[in-house]
Amino acid sequence: MTDTLSVRDNRTGRDYELAITDGTIRAADLKQIAVGDEPGLATYDPGFVNTASCRSAITFIDGDAGILEYRGYPIEQLAEHSTFLEVSYLLLNGELPSQDQLDSWVHNITYHTFIHENLKQFIQGFRYDAHPMGMLMASVSALSTFYPTASNISDPENRQLQITRMIAKMPTLGAFAYRHQQGKPYVYPDNELSYTANFLAMLFKMSEPAYKADERLIKALEVLFILHADHEQNCSTNAVRSVGSSQVDPYSAVAAGVGALYGPLHGGANEAVLAMLRRIRSTDNIPDFIEGVKGGKEKLMGFGHRVYKNHDPRATIIKKACDDVFEVTGVNPLLKIAQELEKIALEDEYFVKRKLYPNVDFYSGLIYEALQFPPEMFTVLFAIGRTPGWLAQWSELVQDKEQKIARPKQIYTGIRTRDFVPINER
Ligand SMILES: CC(C)(COP(=O)(O)OP(=O)(O)OC[C@H]1O[C@@H](n2cnc3c(N)ncnc32)[C@H](O)[C@@H]1OP(=O)(O)O)[C@@H](O)C(=O)NCCC(=O)NCCS
Repeated sequence: MTDTLSVRDNRTGRDYELAITDGTIRAADLKQIAVGDEPGLATYDPGFVNTASCRSAITFIDGDAGILEYRGYPIEQLAEHSTFLEVSYLLLNGELPSQDQLDSWVHNITYHTFIHENLKQFIQGFRYDAHPMGMLMASVSALSTFYPTASNISDPENRQLQITRMIAKMPTLGAFAYRHQQGKPYVYPDNELSYTANFLAMLFKMSEPAYKADERLIKALEVLFILHADHEQNCSTNAVRSVGSSQVDPYSAVAAGVGALYGPLHGGANEAVLAMLRRIRSTDNIPDFIEGVKGGKEKLMGFGHRVYKNHDPRATIIKKACDDVFEVTGVNPLLKIAQELEKIALEDEYFVKRKLYPNVDFYSGLIYEALQFPPEMFTVLFAIGRTPGWLAQWSELVQDKEQKIARPKQIYTGIRTRDFVPINER
């Protein structure tokens, strides 16, 4: 078997032999296929549905088999045995840390959690009802002004310092944005607490001398962070890579990722699931709702995925976390509707035929709500979890000799050369 693709251009009758590598052909190889002096052939792929933009050794997904692995480790094992910071180390460095490496990594993260007081004032400048994602995006971007040497991206030590800072400061920025929206005083980081326990304390501490969250809730949030830590070339990661390809500093690149995540097609689906469950109100209304979905009136939010066509492995793990959280907080009344909805949908031919299964967002909103997060904070939680993934992908990008500034082609559909018309003649 030869790893090539034979192509005949029927416009010219000429034959071409294109190399196939890793199941892909190089789009640049198509350029030689041309008619006369016209530009060579290109591919047209809005939304990159079948175009690989990079080589990556970080996350593997097999959507048909429902497999998700970080650096080769199945997500199920990481969610059960690991911590979010250990998983972050793995994503960034390619291997699980030794005990010494982990201790030093956790120590470094812990001691970079504070933010400059001016940045606090910057957050204070937002309106009382500013959306926390807008505040997060702006304050991540503002970090670049506090660390101007971050633009020296070719120095590995410097890159590592910015990566540490960003993973450390993300929960602080997210918590300050939340407290601002609530009109509550900001709570400074507590270095005695773990990454996630400290985040919860910065969010919810009031007058008590030390805030202590329930260990089961801390573990559930850790699991959610782990599940969201990376998902290969999704919309926000592509944004980070695309902006990062201009060789800008990592804060500016990650701010672009936060912006992409803010959109309802990406980070906002779990909020939509909650709204849908509230609208259904009672299990008695489920059959009517399902009929509406099948009739094309609306979507069953939290079902279906572009990549997973068998099951979303993250959804299975989240269901278990749901049980643990509700043991502490009491059952969210919407859970019954969600469970019944899932049961009916999984047996219904419409959903079976289209390979529609619950995705990560079907249950995550219920957990976040049980943890007392308002819906606007859901995407902030996603952003904190995704930060190590964005940075691992950015780091891979800046060290990849094959990468160039991202600059797609277009098919021009507008009018060609014409003379300017003075305003009084238009
Ligand atoms: C995730 C999603 C955008 C993937 O979209 P996609 O890969 O482009 O899949 P398609 O839109 O081509 O869907 C294929 C078929 O399933 C149907 N479908 C997909 N998701 C559906 C849903 N949640 N409810 C009802 N029908 C759905 C489509 O209408 C289409 O039906 P058709 O073949 O009769 O036209 C889509 O499943 C969706 O919108 N889900 C709800 C939102 C959500 O939960 N997003 C979070 C993702 S983690």
